[in-house]
Amino acid sequence: MDVTPVLQVEKLCKSFEGSFWEKRKQVLFDVSFKVFPARATGFVGNNGSGKTTSLKSILEFIRRDSGEIKFFGEALSLKTKSRIGYLPERPYLYEFMTPMEFLNLHWRLCLPDVHGEFVVRAQEVLKQVNLFDSRNRRLRQFSKGMLQRIGLAQAILNRPDFLILDEPMSGLDPDGRIMVKDILKDELERGATIFFSSHLLQDMEELCRDLVVINDGKILYNGPLTQFMQSASSLELAFKQAKIKGTER
Ligand SMILES: Nc1ncnc2c1ncn2[C@@H]1O[C@H](COP(=O)(O)OP(=O)(O)OP(=O)(O)O)[C@@H](O)[C@H]1O
Ligand SMILES: [Mg+2]
Repeated sequence: MDVTPVLQVEKLCKSFEGSFWEKRKQVLFDVSFKVFPARATGFVGNNGSGKTTSLKSILEFIRRDSGEIKFFGEALSLKTKSRIGYLPERPYLYEFMTPMEFLNLHWRLCLPDVHGEFVVRAQEVLKQVNLFDSRNRRLRQFSKGMLQRIGLAQAILNRPDFLILDEPMSGLDPDGRIMVKDILKDELERGATIFFSSHLLQDMEELCRDLVVINDGKILYNGPLTQFMQSASSLELAFKQAKIKGTER
């Protein structure tokens, strides 16, 4: 395929300092994968497999040991960052703020060059995530599902070409998951590329065309979801089989 990947990760390695008596612990081992444009790619792996560490290293929130990362064929820069929206695993939400204030903070922090349009855009996004009626309440009064949606609103505020979401559906009830999935579907329709992590494989089946599967810091699979499932009746089973194959290698 001769399309420039939206994200290309080559041989990413990351280790963390151990405590006084422990040696350095490597958690990512030559992680390589590609995310292609205008589709959702799922990043699947068990708890502790290295999804969050990969995303933080890729976005340079933490320093990687080695590896090359390209966004839209280029190194990460202010220009490429302005095309990315990110939802962290544990977003820090100032609970004394209202959604409008919180979005305004992000608008001014992340989009210093964009003027004027804020109120119109914020209202549009709040409607999209179904929080418009709560726009003047304090975040401390919000439920977990509402907080997850305001985090998502922050990530899509600048109409990013590429959305990177760390567990956007985690801890949500079925209604909350459906709501988040609908938002992601809207974003795909708009032409955005989405890369999101989850350990819930059902979330992937509905939304994703491609998959990146990670286990114990090593990539087990990167390619079309259908191909991954070809030999198994469900994504769960395919994941189990890939894990067994991975340990046999
Ligand atoms: N700051 C840190 N210092 C030391 N070890 C860390 C640090 N952050 C993560 N780790 C370790 O790295 C490994 C991968 O963790 P990571 O959070 O990336 O997993 P994950 O796939 O995101 O898991 P989850 O599904 O639970 O979110 C784990 O063993 C974790 O303990
Ligand atoms: Mg994580």
